[in-house]
Amino acid sequence: MSTGLHIARATPEDAMLLAGLHRTCFDDAWNAESFRDILAHPKAFALLASAPGSSEVDGFVAIQTAASESEILTIGTVPGARRSGCARALVRAGAREAEAMGAEEMFLEVAVGNNAAFALYSGLGFTEAGRRRGYYRSAAGPVDALVLSARLPLPATQR
Ligand SMILES: CC(C)(COP(=O)(O)OP(=O)(O)OC[C@H]1O[C@@H](n2cnc3c(N)ncnc32)[C@H](O)[C@@H]1OP(=O)(O)O)[C@@H](O)C(=O)NCCC(=O)NCCS
Repeated sequence: MSTGLHIARATPEDAMLLAGLHRTCFDDAWNAESFRDILAHPKAFALLASAPGSSEVDGFVAIQTAASESEILTIGTVPGARRSGCARALVRAGAREAEAMGAEEMFLEVAVGNNAAFALYSGLGFTEAGRRRGYYRSAAGPVDALVLSARLPLPATQR
């Protein structure tokens, strides 16, 4: 099913916008400089999703590719636009773009306990490839990350 979202490539001028979006999604916010560095890399890119005809951006994803591998560096949907298929559309579009750049596999890390993100990825065909102990820091202490991976293209699903 199509979400009808408009998905566009971010440019270096979007670094500030990306930092603002990131701040609405994560406690550990990345600054504009971090996004400028990502977007300056020839094998990395970011995508922005918005509702048709809207100038508001609802979600973003940043992806790094390296030879046959690609990695989702960060992804988020602003709280008011969640659960409408935005992140799923971004992962799908990002996977297609990474594949066009030569990637055959996609990886990502997700914090143990981030059930929304885990459900998103497993619904798209990602499976557990490993675990990084204490990868994230939280107010409650270190949190493990699960490493998830999927072969590209992602398996076709109903959604
Ligand atoms: C995780 C996140 C990106 C999901 O974004 P989203 O746009 O709401 O996700 P989608 O609407 O595309 O959801 C796709 C699927 O993911 C799963 N999912 C998403 N949010 C969920 C939730 N809160 N609880 C359970 N499952 C959820 C569902 O399977 C959903 O499909 P369905 O709605 O048809 O049941 C969003 O909650 C977010 O930005 N969280 C904060 C940042 C973050 O954790 N990023 C991921 C880091 S690895």
